[in-house]
Amino acid sequence: MVNDQMQTFIQKIPKAELHVHIEGTLEPEHMFQLAEKNAVRLKYPSVNKLRNAYRFQDLQSFLEIYYEGTNVLITEQDFYDLTWQYLEKRYLENVIHAEIFFDPQSHLCRKVPFEVVINGISKALEDGEKKLNLSSKLIMCFLRHLSEKSAMETLEESIPYKDKIIGVGLDSTELNNPPSKFTEVFQKAISFGYLPVAHAGEEGSPEYIWEAIDKLKVLRVDHGVRCLEDESLVAQLIKKKIPLTVCPLSNVQLGIFKSLGEHNLKELINAGLFITINSDDPAYFGGYLSENYLGVYKALKLTREDICTLVRNSFEASFLNDADKKSMLVKVQSFINQGLQ
Ligand code: HPA
Ligand code: ZN
Repeated sequence: MVNDQMQTFIQKIPKAELHVHIEGTLEPEHMFQLAEKNAVRLKYPSVNKLRNAYRFQDLQSFLEIYYEGTNVLITEQDFYDLTWQYLEKRYLENVIHAEIFFDPQSHLCRKVPFEVVINGISKALEDGEKKLNLSSKLIMCFLRHLSEKSAMETLEESIPYKDKIIGVGLDSTELNNPPSKFTEVFQKAISFGYLPVAHAGEEGSPEYIWEAIDKLKVLRVDHGVRCLEDESLVAQLIKKKIPLTVCPLSNVQLGIFKSLGEHNLKELINAGLFITINSDDPAYFGGYLSENYLGVYKALKLTREDICTLVRNSFEASFLNDADKKSMLVKVQSFINQGLQ
């Protein structure tokens, strides 16, 4: 298919995304508007200067700007509006299901209560379900540069809102913060019924992916692109059918790969791994979900069938119940069957 047709196909096919940070969907214009409303000082004097600062050397240089951005989120309405803007974008590119990360500790540390964060986000998600027919689930991430004790306190705080949260994740600075640091808090989260996932093998070594599997008992690995350095790890991921949530544009922006053309996505697929495509922090990394698909389609010369498989995988790897999974996969297949008419 020529690129224009493929662009439309990718935009219209019903898709799911399993790795997107809600704080990473904060567009610079919205950040400035909230900064003014809430009287929060930003380091950058204009939207343009801020956008120019979006040139990251690595994960840490991104996280510094990302946490600065989160400082403007104060009220329940701010969290509602942030989430609603993401939902409107999803509607336009037919992302009918998403499993969305949020970082409560980055708000709690600024004295924004858990209740404010979760209510703002989940009210928008409920409206998205009703008004736009978009399905969503929420995953609470622990910040791995903080202590396990802080994660444990956050876990306790989440309990009254347990029905709004499907799982727990692990994000922030990976190097020197191995998954094993969070073994106990994950064990406790699992005992409460949360489903475990973790970022691992983005910058960190394959050993971190092993730990995520063996110590945290994760059901998905977020990123995981460094798994190819360890053959026995690849075999284990395949044996256990553990999906990887790969984020191509993010990986390039954070210097994991020099360009999309050098991304190892095709090797991951060819190795027989269970791969999904995701946007991570789309407001910072130059594209939402469709741009990630289209980017790898072009740069890696994927086929239309590769795209269809990746899209099906996004539902198969989700935490949807079997009935919802099946009905969404039926929508995908009927779209594929009818082509572009
Ligand atoms: N990696 C780790 N932590 C994060 C990311 C990421 O890509 N995005 C937001 N927090
Ligand atoms: Zn991420």
